Amino acid sequence: MREKVLINEVGLRDGLQNQPVIVPTATKARLFDALVRAGVRHLEPVSFVHPKAVPAMADAAELTALLPLQDARLHLTALVPNLKGYERARDSGYRTVALVLSTTDTFNQRNLNMSLAQAARSCEDILVQARRDGVKTRTYIAGSFACPYDGTTPVQVPQELARRMIAAGSDEIAIADTIGAGNPAQMQRIMKPLLREFGAEAFFVHLHDTRGMAAALAWAACDLGVRKFDASIGGLGGCPFAPGATGNVATEDLVYMLEACGLDTGISVDGLREAVAIASRATQSRQGGRILGWMQSQETRQRKKQQACQS
Ligand code: COA
Ligand code: ZN
Repeated sequence: MREKVLINEVGLRDGLQNQPVIVPTATKARLFDALVRAGVRHLEPVSFVHPKAVPAMADAAELTALLPLQDARLHLTALVPNLKGYERARDSGYRTVALVLSTTDTFNQRNLNMSLAQAARSCEDILVQARRDGVKTRTYIAGSFACPYDGTTPVQVPQELARRMIAAGSDEIAIADTIGAGNPAQMQRIMKPLLREFGAEAFFVHLHDTRGMAAALAWAACDLGVRKFDASIGGLGGCPFAPGATGNVATEDLVYMLEACGLDTGISVDGLREAVAIASRATQSRQGGRILGWMQSQETRQRKKQQACQS
């Protein structure tokens, strides 16, 4: 039996939060359905942030009402920036939340209007409340490789924040390359001690492909034993508070790579075509990683060959 890898689809949240067009709620729901049809089982469809800060997420409650939150096959997460966001997510029915803690004062200030110390304390408060409510938690250490404002992040910083959040009760930690600035050696330096201390089960990796390094970073993490990854359909993505960051690693490319390496994602690359098409139409821009274009060119070649044989 092949070893399983968990892919958490964040396109509806991380992907759409930064698009110049606001995607209608019903279209988001159709994209969600297409992803599920392709085999995606873990999704982060919304964030409960201030609607003025991220207008694309203003429909979080409305979209949630359209989603099969009670479907036991599905694992849905909502991103929460503060205690108020946590309460909104919990009251909408989410049983898993994603918290955000950035590695520098500047990034926390721009993202959450808090210093690093305030953001860390706010996360601790949410973790205590979530534990009381029986809600599962995953804390994102944003800017683990570099901060969009202050440059390269020393490896000890995400490690210390991860330890602190685990001590405060975070069930999982996501090491996030929010601006796609990392390299595989850095991934090894950050992850090796953490995996030794806490085991792979506790970790997610969240990657952006700004410099084309996301697949290399994913493989570096996978080789170390990480088995949980965020990805975004068509490589949609970016953070409104992290200038210059492009999309996440494309779900279809990550699935292709991991499956080619013998791992089992449970997702069909071919099945993701419909979702990529919906994402492209919805954002009025061509979305897509590399693999679907390659598959299409192979099919065209095949068709031409068949036509030549018949004529
Ligand atoms: N959802 C909706 N409204 C919220 C809220 C939330 N999560 N948190 C605070 N508010 C409201 C408060 O109720 C208050 O409303 P009022 O003026 O009517 O009383 C107002 O916003 C100001 O509250 P405050 O706690 O001072 O928030 P803030 O202005 O410091 O903003 C955040 C903090 C976190 C809400 C805001 O910076 C934000 O939403 N950031 C988004 C970050 C993000 O999405 N980043 C990308 C993903 S990592
Ligand atoms: Zn991201």
